[in-house]
Amino acid sequence: MKFFIDTANFEEIKEAHAWGILSGVTTNPSLVAKENISFHDRLREITALVDGSVSAEVIALDAEGMIKEGRELAAIAPNITVKLPMTPEGLKACAVFYSEGIKTNVTLIFSANQALLAARAGATYVSPFLGRLDDIGHDGMELIAKIAQIFAIHNIDTEIIAASIRHPQHITDAALNGAHISTTPFKVLKQLFHHPLTDKGIEGFLADWNNRKSE
Ligand code: E4P
Repeated sequence: MKFFIDTANFEEIKEAHAWGILSGVTTNPSLVAKENISFHDRLREITALVDGSVSAEVIALDAEGMIKEGRELAAIAPNITVKLPMTPEGLKACAVFYSEGIKTNVTLIFSANQALLAARAGATYVSPFLGRLDDIGHDGMELIAKIAQIFAIHNIDTEIIAASIRHPQHITDAALNGAHISTTPFKVLKQLFHHPLTDKGIEGFLADWNNRKSE
């Protein structure tokens, strides 16, 4: 499973990129709104740094508007992926982008049928939202497993992005259940490093080194 970061904050993206683990970035209108920046300028900065897919979401609700916005976004850099909502209009736009060779990420996926529809419309990626399903008492991970099974049975090459990640266990379980990618907030990515035995081990090695008898 590959790592994308779910943020529009450039400092967070730079830090995660420096760790050597980053295969892409996802943004959404809420994340961009927090940053108080020009969306297109921020996309230029991100795509200049990160080689992999950078998802940029459209705001329009009609296919025509989404296609216009998506083409403008895609013109910013070759690694822009146009993020579209899981609606009939979103899928119309998805089909057009597929025919134009523009990559798409169909977002706000909450059922296996929605994922299958998006894949058949030519989506490069589908984004099932784990955390938001868990929040309402459903099992987000079960959805990842079902989508992965359906895509495997039918040889569908659309990639599954486990989204709306809330904690490290989501990452392990998404990887085990067949997600190709997880898109993760910076806070959770940092949590993945930590283990008390690692900290204790470093402390022990340093203490032994500092107490050594010979120079
Ligand atoms: C995915 O692409 C979305 O931006 C994101 O994962 C949504 O997460 P949230 O439920 O924490 O807002």
